[in-house]
Parts: sequence; structure tokens; C-alpha cells
Amino acid sequence: MKIAVIGTGYVGLVSGVCFAELGNEVICVDKLSEKIAMLIAGKTPIYEPGLQELMIRNSNAGRLRFTTDFASAIRESEIVIIAVGTPSLPNGEANLEFIQAVASEIGSVLNGYKVIVTKSTVPVGTNDQVVNWIREQTAQPFDVASVPEFLREGTAVRDTLNPDRIVIGTSSQRAANVLYELHRPLTDQVVQTDIRSAEMIKYASNAFLATKISFINEIANICEKVEANVEEVARGMGLDSRIGSSFLRAGIGYGGSCFPKDTQALIQIAGNLSYDFKLLKSVVEVNKLQRGSVLDKLHETLGNLQGRIIGIWGLAFKPGTDDVREAPAFDIIQRLLDEGAELKVYDPIAQDNFRQVYFSDETSINWCNDMWDVVDNSDALCLLTEWDCFVKADLEEIDLRMHGSILIDGRNVYRLEDVSKTGLHYYSVGRPVINGQLDHTLA
Ligand code: UDX
Repeated sequence: MKIAVIGTGYVGLVSGVCFAELGNEVICVDKLSEKIAMLIAGKTPIYEPGLQELMIRNSNAGRLRFTTDFASAIRESEIVIIAVGTPSLPNGEANLEFIQAVASEIGSVLNGYKVIVTKSTVPVGTNDQVVNWIREQTAQPFDVASVPEFLREGTAVRDTLNPDRIVIGTSSQRAANVLYELHRPLTDQVVQTDIRSAEMIKYASNAFLATKISFINEIANICEKVEANVEEVARGMGLDSRIGSSFLRAGIGYGGSCFPKDTQALIQIAGNLSYDFKLLKSVVEVNKLQRGSVLDKLHETLGNLQGRIIGIWGLAFKPGTDDVREAPAFDIIQRLLDEGAELKVYDPIAQDNFRQVYFSDETSINWCNDMWDVVDNSDALCLLTEWDCFVKADLEEIDLRMHGSILIDGRNVYRLEDVSKTGLHYYSVGRPVINGQLDHTLA
């Protein structure tokens, strides 16, 4: 099939590359000419394992092209996928200006029947507006469908090629048939539904996953008080097939480009209809507070943080990505700076991004080139992202190289029995403290 993908962000680029991999002819369009030049040169603007290789292979095979020429791309295609951004407005609502602009542009160049697919996450009812925005520009036939994307960063290619399900929301059986055909190689699990339900499935799924995370984080906080171990609790809960074991990892809260944005947007969508989504508001609040648990543990062990040397391992919102959007590390570092701590930080992939986005003018952070430079002479070490290099770190070496001996593990990556063989004072999330002390004399 001939497909145009509008927008080469995460969703657009990964979808375009994967549809080409399935044998389709794909043209990816973006208005940023530098980005298109980079893609033509075989470089992906995002760090995503496996994506660049797949992109080069399909470009070389002639199935994947990149262009800024919007009109030709649309005219040549049977399916047009809209994958432009819907960033949050200050009030939490999704900003639809890019969707609207693309829809109008599609309308103005339409040259015969096409299926217009929205993959961007949009408020319920937006696709009805997409129909109107296109219709205002043309009398040509077309159908609109909502096919939400559920890929995760870091495993985006695998998720796209092996989805749990495909949701096709459309009122047209003709469009549904085209989209069944397109997705046939991927899965038999297809949910065909109306447009509004499809739009809602995306928000409800992300809100539910965020709820699971905030739920287990609160359970972890209680576990700390009653001296239970949240990992054991999650294991016992997860075996109940009604609950399931995924997304029950306690930590310092969720971040990234989707959960924070989509939960806020759903609260806003409900609020606009005079529905107070109390549960989801609490999920967001709990997530905000959870970032503070790292600070609480530092205060508990070091007291005043003025002049203390704090090491930070990990800046990305999760491993496997250089994405730093809504990364818990930002809030934590900002608060540490406000309290006068001296910071040494390291991330194997996201460091330049993080520095550029959040702290380009900040002179009081020591950006280390090596994870062990962070450890040397620090009073406490905080692990914020579970990159493999940190997970595999030698605990004895951490203990030896630090000035103090406090290890705050925000992602529960170390085994308690391994840590207990060292002299480290170890604080993780919802698990027993190892060698804990409550006075402020540890450093
Ligand atoms: C998420 C959804 O999984 C995906 O379906 C949707 O399309 C986009 O949003 P992503 O943001 O890439 O994907 O990351 P994900 O792996 O879901 O993790 C999100 C956040 O939750 C991360 O900050 C991660 O550290 C955190 N998390 C995840 C936990 O704290 N505990 C868990 O058990 C799982």
C-alpha cells in the first residue's frame, strides 16, 4: 500500500519505518527541512534501539522516502497517517493547532478517495473536527479513522511490529477494510469500534497504567512504614490474573512524553464536561509527591544538604531513551540545587539532552564523563534511571570510592542481600533499609 506519514516525531517515524518494513511504500513528511535532510542521510533524530538500521535498510530498498513536499506525498498515497504533536497547553489541554493545520492542508490537496488516519493522541471528538477541517477544503471523497499508537520509547520498533492489539475507530467499513489489510501482518487482535471510543481507549489505557504505578508507589510508601517489601507484595498481587504483574514496579514515579501529558489532558477533558475525575487527579498528585521521596531519604540521612556532594546516576525518564521530557531527575536536581547541594551527574545517553533542555546556564552542576567520577568523593549517591551500567555496577566499588556511604536507589535495582554484604547505607523504595541510621552522621 502507498502511505504518507505526516510528522516524523517518535510515533510518525517509527510507524513509517515499520510499515515500510512490512513491504508498503512509505513517504514520511515533515516541514522541518533539517530534519528531513538528516533522515535522508540515514540518521534518526531520536535515540531508539534498532530504528536507524531498519530505516536505512528500507530506504535502500526504495520503500521508504523522506520529503518536505507535503502535497505530492498526499497525492501519491492511499492512506495518510497524521502523527504530528499535540503538546500540552498551560491548562493541561492538548494543543490541536498542528492537527488542524495538517487536516486543512490535506483537504486542500486531496485528489481522490483516501483513508486519513489519526495516530496522534487527541481529545475525544477531535476526529469529527478533522472531518470538518478537511471537508471545508474539498469535495473529494475520504474517510477518517482513529488508530491510536501504544508504542513505548526504548522498545518502539518491537512494540510496533508486535502490538498487543490494534484499535481501528471509524464509521466507514470501507476505511476499516483498508486498515485491517494494512495491519493484518501484525496481529489478529483487532478492535474495530467507533471513532470516539477509539480516542478514549488511548487515554483510558495510559491513565490506567499511570494509576497502577501511583498505586504501587503508595503501597511502597506504606511498606516502608510497616517494614514489608513492596517487591514481594507486587509479586503476590501480580499473580492474580485480574491484576497482572506489569506496571507494578515501585520507584520515583512515571515521566516521559505520554503519561504526564495524557493524564492531565483526560482530567481536563472530563473537567470541561463538569466531571471531576478525582481518582486520576490523585494519581497525578501521588506521582508528583513520589519524586520527593529521594529528598526525604537524603534529609533523613544527611540532614541539611547545604554543601553536601550528591551524585546522580541517570537523567532520562527511563532507560533505553535519550528523552528527558517530564523526567523525575529534573525536579529532584532542581530541589537539590535550591537546597545548596553540590551535584555530580551522569547519564550514558541522555546527558547532553538533559543539560541543554533544563540546565544550559547552570554552572553549579558537575557534568561527569564517567559514571565513577560521580561516585568519587560524594556524600550520597542517588540512582534515578535504571540503565544497565548502573544495575551492573560493583557495589563494593561504590562503597570504596564514595566519601560517605549512602546509596539511594530510586528504582530498586540492587538485591538486598548483595547490598547487605557491603558497608553501604542503602535506601530503596518500599523495601527494608540496609544498615539504616537515623542520625545525621553518616557522611
Ligand atoms: C507509555 C505507554 O506505555 C505507551 O503505551 C504509550 O503509547 C506512551 O506512554 P513510555 O512513556 O515510552 O510509554 O514508557 P513506559 O515504559 O510505559 O514507562 C513510563 C514511565 O513509567 C517511566 O517513567 C517508567 O519509569 C515508569 N514506570 C513504568 C514505573 O515507574 N513503574 C512501572 O512498573 C512501569
